[in-house]
Amino acid sequence: MSLQILGEINKNYLTALRVHDELSQVFEFIGLQGYSLWHFYQYLEESCTQRKIKAYITDTYGVYCVDEAPPNVNIGEPLLKGKTRKGLKIETSWDIVKKAFAAYCAFEEKNLQLYQQKALQAFQNGDISVFNFISDLVRDVKNELTYLNGKMAELASYNYEMAQISAEQDTYYERYTHLIGTLFKPKEQYHHYNSAVSKLDDV
Ligand SMILES: [Fe+2]
Repeated sequence: MSLQILGEINKNYLTALRVHDELSQVFEFIGLQGYSLWHFYQYLEESCTQRKIKAYITDTYGVYCVDEAPPNVNIGEPLLKGKTRKGLKIETSWDIVKKAFAAYCAFEEKNLQLYQQKALQAFQNGDISVFNFISDLVRDVKNELTYLNGKMAELASYNYEMAQISAEQDTYYERYTHLIGTLFKPKEQYHHYNSAVSKLDDV
């Protein structure tokens, strides 16, 4: 039963990766490199999480986790179909930014509901290990949503002013360049291991 719950969560992560990939492309298209990298970071971060989900499934149940093809998330195409970068007007970009943020927020709200529901199911099954594992995912998506809601309140406070949005792209690009670097930092245990190896090499 809990295996099925985790399989459904894995499936949703495939959708999540599609959502972040499409949003990254949407912001890239309209020239907002900082927001584009924000979504690429989320793509990478959630890809790492999905790997943990698959590892948990294999480590706990000893089975291979089968991926289904992710559904069409239908974000990029409705926003950009038929448009060209050269033909973009400021009103069009403004509209795309608003709709892209709204789609992002709606998706994460749905995720939070889904993971909470799955955590509850695991708890009711008495599977506390799986409950704890899913609780970490609930915490992650809640943090993502809190940050996003704060950003959307800020954007609304100046009515998604494009000049302001363009001006902050460098800051976002720097922030997410840094955060992407933190995803692949060596673990402390390997530092110890490597220093032990280098000591042996020095002998
Ligand atoms: Fe996300």
